[in-house]
Amino acid sequence: MPSTVTPGRPAVLGGDKAVTLEPSKIEEANRWPIISDEEVAAVTEVLRSGELSLHQVTRALEDDYRSWLGVKHVVAYCNGTSAIVAALHGFGLQPGDEVIVPSATYWASVMPVLWSGAVPIFCELEPKQLGLDPEDVERKISPRTRAMVVVHLWGMPSKMEELTRIAKRHSLKILEDASHAHGAKWRGRLAGTLGDAAVFSLQSNKLAPAGEGGILATDDDNLHEHAVCLGHFERIISLQTPGRRFAGTGFGLKHRMAPLSAAVARVQFRHAHERNDRRNENILYLSERLERLGFNTFLPPRDVERVYFMFMVENVESRTGLPTDRLVAALRAEGCAVMLPRYPLLHQQPVFTEERFLEIARLRHLPRESLPTYRPDALPRTTAGNERLIQLPSFPNADRVLLDQYALAFQKVIAAASDIARASLEL
Ligand SMILES: Cc1ncc(COP(=O)(O)O)c(C=O)c1O
Repeated sequence: MPSTVTPGRPAVLGGDKAVTLEPSKIEEANRWPIISDEEVAAVTEVLRSGELSLHQVTRALEDDYRSWLGVKHVVAYCNGTSAIVAALHGFGLQPGDEVIVPSATYWASVMPVLWSGAVPIFCELEPKQLGLDPEDVERKISPRTRAMVVVHLWGMPSKMEELTRIAKRHSLKILEDASHAHGAKWRGRLAGTLGDAAVFSLQSNKLAPAGEGGILATDDDNLHEHAVCLGHFERIISLQTPGRRFAGTGFGLKHRMAPLSAAVARVQFRHAHERNDRRNENILYLSERLERLGFNTFLPPRDVERVYFMFMVENVESRTGLPTDRLVAALRAEGCAVMLPRYPLLHQQPVFTEERFLEIARLRHLPRESLPTYRPDALPRTTAGNERLIQLPSFPNADRVLLDQYALAFQKVIAAASDIARASLEL
């Protein structure tokens, strides 16, 4: 936005809206996923083959990911959640083992830990990259800790140097939950290659969507064998390892990916990098303007190339002069599609905090005294940080007109912050 533009009276105090682009153009700017004739052709080919359960397109998708990531094994699952279940199973967790997890994430980063019989131990996020806080991880390690789930939240790689060092020192496995992080890099290395196993979700609003789908990537032969045995019974017969003897039963789950989804996933994968570039360009353009107004837009540190599954911004009230609820109300009045964070903190959810937790959460086989108490007021830094976040659109198709209108909206609101702070608003 040219610096000569004067912001004007904010819409929440009776001025004109900043976002005036026609609704159909806004919808187009934020449309996701982007589906074209390529997906239609790819799906039609699979449909016409009649091979709707097992089709070579799933193996082809696995090859795409294998050569992109440069890892030994890639297995496709029906969703990211089932890939996480498979990876944790592959770690060989025993009842009562502990797994360190974040709380500000989608439930699937954590709940499969319970299905493996292990105990999630929640840990604070560090405020810059929003991954597990290495210092709190150190504090939470016990003789029973076996693994950690490292979520590259919103597309920002976590502090891998510190986390890897801790994992090595304590012989812990790292599962990277790279569901938000297709194409992100740490020190030039792709997210998905930084731990013992990694998972990508291909759910519909992710960066390389399939509708439903999940990818498990690992260099570990043993983990691969176990993961195949758990969810891909039809593949067990072709294993060249002792696991082959389980071909008659598998281990009770059938989690393979549907070929129609794999067909979509292959097309989306081919376009993911150029589409990430477009998102990044748009979001960085707006971020630069919002940083000048006092917001923290989570710009990546020097050794990180981030991507944007979601565009989250931190409202630092001491700099912007507005509490987050007033800020959001004022931005909405300007026509901005801003929201409060999507993820309820997991450590505060009833599955952890209610009395009947042991039954609900499948840990009744463990002595009650060996289980942690999950207190909703634990993790004060994560809780406070979460409350300062606002979510903007990720502008996958936007042009400068819309971005400039958003920048103007923020500028108007911040310029009138003290009036908005005093005004009586319906929040
Ligand atoms: C961080 C994270 N982990 C795991 C998942 C689970 O993936 P899926 O929805 O494909 O099961 C998601 C999906 O939303 C996610 O956001």
